[in-house]
Amino acid sequence: MTATVINGKKVAGSVLDLVKSATASLEQSSSVIPGLAVVIVGEDPASHAYVGAKSRMAKQCGFRSLQYSLPEESTQQELAALVEKLNVDETIHGILVQLPLPKHLNAEAVIQSIKADKDVDGLHVVNAGKLATGDLRGGLISCTPAGAMALIRLSHGDDLSGLSAVVIGRSNLFGKPMSALLLAANATVTTAHSRTKELAEVCRQADILVAAVGSPGMVRADWVKQGATIIDVGINRVPGSDGTPRLVGDVSFDECASVAGFITPVPGGVGPMTIAMLMANTVTAAYRHAGRTPPNF
Ligand code: GUN
Repeated sequence: MTATVINGKKVAGSVLDLVKSATASLEQSSSVIPGLAVVIVGEDPASHAYVGAKSRMAKQCGFRSLQYSLPEESTQQELAALVEKLNVDETIHGILVQLPLPKHLNAEAVIQSIKADKDVDGLHVVNAGKLATGDLRGGLISCTPAGAMALIRLSHGDDLSGLSAVVIGRSNLFGKPMSALLLAANATVTTAHSRTKELAEVCRQADILVAAVGSPGMVRADWVKQGATIIDVGINRVPGSDGTPRLVGDVSFDECASVAGFITPVPGGVGPMTIAMLMANTVTAAYRHAGRTPPNF
């Protein structure tokens, strides 16, 4: 193996230390305690595991942490009423509705009904629009791309001028905001997706390759430029050799690590950063609510 493995857990730990000290400082100066409300609908075990981790981390950061678990058969009106209640609650600074929602619910309508100032997922059109227009400080940025970008800065610094970046995936939650962040940092960006032709050839041009496809091990060594930075956003559960499920990314780690310069592992790469950036977004929203300038995370 030649690549340096990026330790996302360690980087996330430093972000969380900053979040904790910012939280203590806000409480001291303004008597404001960041409040995060996480809403989950239905029984999907993986989603419940993620949401549980978010709620626990919020507590560890010193936040007020509220979790709303709604039954699978909840109606659009019930969910809308909960969001409205949280929108007007002065003690709540961040609202996250875990996705995907059950099929009978209109997720986009729910997301857009969240007050933009409290949209710690960065999915409201106001926040997505600020990012798209290059305003990286005024809104809230989707947590996984923000976390991935923090890891990219470790290997390349703040300015990606002259570097080519390829993002595989074009979702609103990840691919689009990831591409916008890379572009804002002066990279030359290609957003590839399931309809892209010659995907391997496109990826081989990348100095920075970001994979978010949801397909275990799809990125192979011959897709990777020598010395490239690989950011693996995939979280796939596959049966391990003893039959118990194990987590793997979208990148064939061992073989790609022999070609890449830097690579993120799964687990322990982007995953811990997502949750750390969610905490950072929540404390940022609380600072703004209190009329204070938030720290840069
Ligand atoms: N489901 C998977 N990732 C996420 C996320 O970052 N935010 C929300 N709301 N749902 C998700």
